[in-house]
Amino acid sequence: MVHSNTDNNNQEENIPIKELKTIFPDAFLWGISTSSYQVEGAVNADKRGRSIWDTFSHTPGKTANGATGDTTCDQYHRYEEDIALMRTLGVKVYNFSIAWPRIYPEGKGQINIKGIDYYRRLIEALQRNKIQPVITLYHWDLPQSLQDLGGWELRDTAKYFSDYAQSCYQHLAQYIPLWCTLNEPWCDAFLGHLYGIHAPGKQNRQSAYSSTHHLLYAHGLAVQAFRDGAYPGKIGIKLNLETPKPASNSLEDRQAADRGADEPSRLFLNPLFAKAYPGRLLKAYPHITIPLKKNDEKVIATPIDFLGMNYYTQPTVAFHPESPQQFRYIQTDIHKTAMGWDIAPLGLLKQFEWVQKEYGPIDVYLSENGAAFPDILENNICNDPDRITYLHAHISMCAKAIEKGIPLKGYFLWSFIDNFEWSFGYTKRFGIVYCDYNNNRKRIPKKSFYWYKKLIR
Ligand code: FCB
Repeated sequence: MVHSNTDNNNQEENIPIKELKTIFPDAFLWGISTSSYQVEGAVNADKRGRSIWDTFSHTPGKTANGATGDTTCDQYHRYEEDIALMRTLGVKVYNFSIAWPRIYPEGKGQINIKGIDYYRRLIEALQRNKIQPVITLYHWDLPQSLQDLGGWELRDTAKYFSDYAQSCYQHLAQYIPLWCTLNEPWCDAFLGHLYGIHAPGKQNRQSAYSSTHHLLYAHGLAVQAFRDGAYPGKIGIKLNLETPKPASNSLEDRQAADRGADEPSRLFLNPLFAKAYPGRLLKAYPHITIPLKKNDEKVIATPIDFLGMNYYTQPTVAFHPESPQQFRYIQTDIHKTAMGWDIAPLGLLKQFEWVQKEYGPIDVYLSENGAAFPDILENNICNDPDRITYLHAHISMCAKAIEKGIPLKGYFLWSFIDNFEWSFGYTKRFGIVYCDYNNNRKRIPKKSFYWYKKLIR
């Protein structure tokens, strides 16, 4: 069924930049984000251990054109240049992730101080340029040695994560205003353990649910350790929530859309906010068990300071009685990005409201937002009007959210630079800086870079 929709694409919804200025408070954190495996390269530098993404990307057939993150944008060696560009851009925040296997090459045991030193150099360079570092502790690059022991299906991995997190706090907390424990645990658990398209490439629903619980437990242990250590700064988590749009206004479709939020959203938000795992979802999969132990729920619900929301799209779903959760995803004729994702800015506003209604009040950051389009470099210029339109529409929704009283504290654009887009390799470009992979990875700011710069100023 093709579903026709215009409200999500209505350009008139966009608020002119001049007006946006009056809506965002001075303290609003305009930022930009990346992750370790996607931008660093230098996979063998300074005793870094192997991660599951090294293994996965080097397995034939797992990534587009066999791409790996071995070198990618080489930010490990070029961070000074990148940070100089960020300064030109005028962002207040750079949200990057630490590669666990740089700090613990085997995931646990002996710490590798050279790994800490790299991130300290990065942080110092940011400080010299008046950019605040926001750290994500885990953006999917699990040390391979821990995967060999069972990875996220194993409860012990949560404890190793907490040990690793504590080492990061001890060495770096003095510089860091905001910490995110995990990025998008749904992707790790489901893309990695059920759909098999991310590392470690498993296809088993029980593995996905066991991993979900252990990821959340790892998060909780890391937040507890942060509180126990009385470190400065705030701590939260980054989630990719889904709040689907019903294919029609019928009660059946609206209820289906509500169920569509169970696995990607409630499965994570409920335990984080001291509610039980969603019973309706567990009923849909009677053979699944959550490896819950005494006190786990309390640990997972250790209060966080903020919720990072990563938003790219809103899927559309319809009632489908034959599937376990009784819904299915619907193709729409809504305008799409190069990922094939519907461009749905209104869905962002609705998601902000939904989160506050169900779990709030809680401070939120739009901790990832951006789009891939088929960018072309011509005479050293990359004109990307579709990205600008996308960003403008979503930032307008942020403004509306603030006007409606949503405690939205910052916006981190994904991404600073084109990078290794997981199983899509280098075929999808999300950056506002073009990375010329064929020409010494030259950095060329796209038109959207100048647009964002103007907006921030
Ligand atoms: C998010 C990921 C990020 C990047 C963007 C496009 O789900 O967190 O690493 O892949 O999507």
